[in-house]
Amino acid sequence: MSVLLETVGLTRFFGMVRAAEALNIRIDEGEMVGIIGSNGSSKTTFLNLVTGYLKPDSGRILLDRRDTTALPPRRIARLGVARSFQVPQLYIGLTVMENLLLSFAARSGRIGFWRGLQKPEWVGEARQILAQFALGSYADRPVAALPEGARKLLDIALAAALRPRLLLMDEPTAGVSTEDKFAAMDTTCVWCAPTAPRCRAACSSAVTAPACRTEAISTAVIGLSGSSSNGLAGPKPTASCR
Ligand SMILES: Nc1ncnc2c1ncn2[C@@H]1O[C@H](COP(=O)(O)OP(=O)(O)OP(=O)(O)O)[C@@H](O)[C@H]1O
Ligand SMILES: [Mg+2]
Repeated sequence: MSVLLETVGLTRFFGMVRAAEALNIRIDEGEMVGIIGSNGSSKTTFLNLVTGYLKPDSGRILLDRRDTTALPPRRIARLGVARSFQVPQLYIGLTVMENLLLSFAARSGRIGFWRGLQKPEWVGEARQILAQFALGSYADRPVAALPEGARKLLDIALAAALRPRLLLMDEPTAGVSTEDKFAAMDTTCVWCAPTAPRCRAACSSAVTAPACRTEAISTAVIGLSGSSSNGLAGPKPTASCR
């Protein structure tokens, strides 16, 4: 398998907080990798670094062997990296369908007048994605009226709609009552979770794509800091996929 994402000596401090220090991580194409760590163990920081929302103090990020360390988030997204957020980032005044259509417009690089977004093929694709994520019944509802779990799923659906090569999910099951609402995803995924059982259970039972192997999760767990819940206690960070 070819390496899709690699970090080399990735380091980021916030003042005295050593959020990431010398992270050397390798994720192969097709893998489903769990990042397990308790609160404050830098899971979100890692995603922010990989997606360009934060810049490291030192170290490098390679996507497909291309150095993306200095690139802005938009350029990194265009290279096929998408993410969902710990706190969903949605247009809450718009409907679920409208949120998806905007995601398609972003994917195509074509943001125009609203009418221009209502392309039949986009609407069809949006309905398919909503069905995949068990959100079909919410299509015409404003996001503001959605329960928290549905918002979380929609945020992931928006990221998946970009058809990324690498999908980064920040605590995707938080607030989601039924984990089997997760669609089978055939893309390379990074799944952040506060505890290993939650991450493993969700992946093995809900994400059935061949890429998501329970063994991959258990052998590829990344401990970003000392955490008693994941059995990776120790000085932070101890990141390694291998
Ligand atoms: N922008 C920032 N400025 C200052 N400190 C920050 C910033 N972002 C993160 N931190 C600090 O870095 C550490 C890691 O935070 P981060 O949010 O990445 O952890 P996390 O594993 O995602 O936690 P949680 O499980 O609560 O989401 C924490 O000590 C946090 O306070
Ligand atoms: Mg976080």
